[in-house]
Amino acid sequence: MSEVHLNLLSPEVAVDPFPFYAALRRDSPVCRVEPGGFWAVSRYEDAAAVVADPVRFSSRGVAPAMDPPWLQLEFNAGAHSMVVQDPPEHTRLRSMVNRAFGPALLAATEGPLRALAERLADGLGGGDEVDFVSAFATPLVASVIGGVLGLDPTRHAQFKRWSDVLGSAGPVSQGPEHDELVRSAYREMHRHCDEVIEARRREPGSDLMSALLQIRAGEQALTDRELHSFFHLLFIAGLETTVHLIAKSVMRFADHPEEMARLRAEPAMIPRYLEEMLRYDPSVHFIFRQAPAEATLAGGTIPAGSFILVMLASANRDEARFPKADVFDMDRDTRGHLAFGHGPHTCLGLALARMEARIALETLLTRFQRFERRPGPPEWMHTIIVRGLARLPVRAIPA
Ligand code: HEM
Repeated sequence: MSEVHLNLLSPEVAVDPFPFYAALRRDSPVCRVEPGGFWAVSRYEDAAAVVADPVRFSSRGVAPAMDPPWLQLEFNAGAHSMVVQDPPEHTRLRSMVNRAFGPALLAATEGPLRALAERLADGLGGGDEVDFVSAFATPLVASVIGGVLGLDPTRHAQFKRWSDVLGSAGPVSQGPEHDELVRSAYREMHRHCDEVIEARRREPGSDLMSALLQIRAGEQALTDRELHSFFHLLFIAGLETTVHLIAKSVMRFADHPEEMARLRAEPAMIPRYLEEMLRYDPSVHFIFRQAPAEATLAGGTIPAGSFILVMLASANRDEARFPKADVFDMDRDTRGHLAFGHGPHTCLGLALARMEARIALETLLTRFQRFERRPGPPEWMHTIIVRGLARLPVRAIPA
């Protein structure tokens, strides 16, 4: 299979990765990329096949990479969470958290979410330019995930910092100062999770942590380490992803006022708009797997032990699956997009994320007729997993 030295973190890829993805799909559907020398899988059919097959393409095999030697933590909750487990262990953990993550949780979240969206919208409409990411999307989503996990609301501002610091960590040390920053973010999160577990043991609430503490699978309760791992996973998985969905939607409103006008006239289209947004430019561009044994893919061979980069955002632009895939079209049939993954690890929080984004857009579309932003490329933050906006300065024009 071809060797390609595309670096997915290079500045030109960060600005617009899609032409690079298209070239891979066309010429090198399975090939090695930088950083890391991962095997990148770019076509829809291959990407979907990899994530549907936990035997040939393991999530467990990715766990050691999440606990690099320089980190030196006594217990790294991130490296033990269910997203890096395979069946049957993954099935056991997922079935427990599935029960706690049902419609009751969504129903309890909806009212406070709508009220907060209204309050945050008040802060946008004063006529000045504001950073939409920090003024609206982040506090909204942090408050939801904080409420779901039963965290202390006075600490919500810290969540983004923890998430940013953890997201900045890589397989190799970036110097003692940065290493210590990452270690202390892990420790602070761990301590806060301990406090939450203790408080919910004493006095259960209507949050997920209380529900998890009460759940028994047969005779076996979740251990404290498993609770920590859930906490860590939900916190990381539920924050950045949803912030980017909401922020990228608003950037699109600024760049395509005709789409915003249509949604204001037809709010019932909001869920379809969001699905197309998720297909067109999902928050999570890549996920990882590892091949425990030699594997065949797209007619070639991947050696045993290889790390695989499943290019969800590329798969969503595959013409073989979505005709005119580079055209944003809220009327299209988006079924089968891979923004939330596929197979056993399909996003646990997809219903929550869809509800958060729908309520955010419903509120914004009622309150504002237009968003304006300075011309030119926005400030992308581009990690190896997530693609989203670091900041989005806008002026919100009231309706
Ligand atoms: C737009 C928002 C979101 C996107 C695009 C997204 C995307 C994804 C993707 C692609 C995966 C698959 C990972 C894999 O197969 O390795 C995943 C898994 C997961 N997501 Fe999300 N996610 C979003 C929001 C959320 C929210 C709000 C939560 C929870 C509060 C959440 C919790 C999870 C969990 C727990 C998993 C692991 C599931 C498992 O291993 O069985 N996600 N998500």
